[in-house]
Amino acid sequence: MPRVVEKITPEQRELWGRHTVTLSHNLPSMELFSDESLARLIETVDPKCMIMHTMADDITTWKVVERGGVPGERVLEAIRNGRIWINMVDIQEADPRFRELLDQLYSEWETDIPGSDYFKRKIGLLISSPNAKVFYHCDPAGQALWQVRGRKRIWLYPNTEPFLRPAELENVIRSVSSEEISYERWYDEYAEVIDLEPGQALHWALNGPHRIENHDEINVSLTSEHYDPAIRRNWAMNYGNGVLRSLGWTPRSRATDGAAFWAKVGITALWRKTMQEKQSYKRIPEYVPDPEAPNGVRPITPAAISS
Ligand SMILES: [Fe+2]
Repeated sequence: MPRVVEKITPEQRELWGRHTVTLSHNLPSMELFSDESLARLIETVDPKCMIMHTMADDITTWKVVERGGVPGERVLEAIRNGRIWINMVDIQEADPRFRELLDQLYSEWETDIPGSDYFKRKIGLLISSPNAKVFYHCDPAGQALWQVRGRKRIWLYPNTEPFLRPAELENVIRSVSSEEISYERWYDEYAEVIDLEPGQALHWALNGPHRIENHDEINVSLTSEHYDPAIRRNWAMNYGNGVLRSLGWTPRSRATDGAAFWAKVGITALWRKTMQEKQSYKRIPEYVPDPEAPNGVRPITPAAISS
């Protein structure tokens, strides 16, 4: 496969993981992202790996949508006319072409960044409606957003207080809340605002809060995420601090080495084994796609749920 993403410069290597880096790539030229290909993916990807949401103008949270047997082309039409957001998570597991793409992207980065060691690498495919929005949130892993079709505006905020509060990040990392965190309008004055075009990718500071608004056109994007040893230690520190906080302690250290840190690694492993299942956030579908319905979705009736 020819090179997918432009070479990372020495300056970008210094910024990597700490600040925003913009890169260009050739994903828009791939058949993998045509309407035909997207429609087949919508039909074949395991529904457990296809997270679908809707957000109407009058609701302030995402509502969960399930495909409910609607053909891929109709789902795309509903996305084009409506207000729907699909995230196919771990798409590299569902389709070997995405596995190959993932391996290619990371082999290019590992070549460009000597000493890098990425694991738990994954990519997600996002297909979203014109003007769809993603609320202010943060994610646990190192990540990049790759724009393939359509344009979107992204606001990137500093990964420090007050934009990112430790207790809220800990909850996101422990999956006890969805990824949304406290947001104030005035934060926007401190954001980097980028209009992302097809063929551009962004990699930003670890856990950096962000929010997104699509321009008035359907959007196709990829997300990539990864861990490396430093990100993994950050994750374990936040997880351990979150467990301590839930037990009534106020964690005093955010160090990622030393005795207190390694104690948190132990707490994290034990807690995940025993408690996580009970506390994790659950998603319940309320709508199915329908290109003729307002916002491209129709409510699931109680009868349809029980059948
Ligand atoms: Fe995100």
